[in-house]
Amino acid sequence: EQGEDLADSLLDWYDGNARTLPWRTSPQDKADGLKPDPYEVWLSEIMLQQTTVATVIPYFEKFIAKWPTVTALADAELDDVLVDWAGLGYYARARNLYKCAQFVRDELDGVFPETSEELRKLPGIGPYTAAAIAAIVHDEAATVVDGNVERVMARLFNVDTPLPDVRPELRDLAEALTPSHRPGDYAQAVMDLGATICTPKALKCDGRCPWQDFCISAKAGTSEELPKRLKK
Ligand code: ADE
Repeated sequence: EQGEDLADSLLDWYDGNARTLPWRTSPQDKADGLKPDPYEVWLSEIMLQQTTVATVIPYFEKFIAKWPTVTALADAELDDVLVDWAGLGYYARARNLYKCAQFVRDELDGVFPETSEELRKLPGIGPYTAAAIAAIVHDEAATVVDGNVERVMARLFNVDTPLPDVRPELRDLAEALTPSHRPGDYAQAVMDLGATICTPKALKCDGRCPWQDFCISAKAGTSEELPKRLKK
């Protein structure tokens, strides 16, 4: 099946090219069957909303050093959390982060739920974050769609309907490609592909993209124009 071939070639690429990020498990840990820490994955995904990986890394390291567990974060003073959040912007995220930590401490014995359905019920966790945590930590076959994924899907299938109307179509394409095998790695592989090769400008397809031979926009020469955006 073509979807599975695409997923497998991307996973092979990811095995050799995954970015080393502090919230990811090392290949050795993975080989030993260790899962990523739900607290670390949750914290990183909240920080990564509207903020780049390079900016997030030092903030993430500082938070984990200061508050190594969700319960430690819940026990902090909100003002201290906001002070260390300064620079990441969107303070509503930090307030929701704190609220969520207290909810997990008070209502869930300090343990994050495992399914995307349950995760979505927590403060500040929307469909994207719930899918990302469930896929990355528990290998739930949830489809994770962010701006990177939308760009990659629009190019792979040469979809030129503009954003935002095209969103449901791009989501359907992303869902059809999501494998039941290693969905967490797959989700992060699409994000890494979008961040390092299938970038908004100055794409680096040649000889590097694991999907180059299939990519319909690469053949049509339209990759750089996609996704289209409705002019305001
Ligand atoms: N952007 C948001 N979440 C990410 C992740 N888990 N890996 C890489 N980039 C991301």
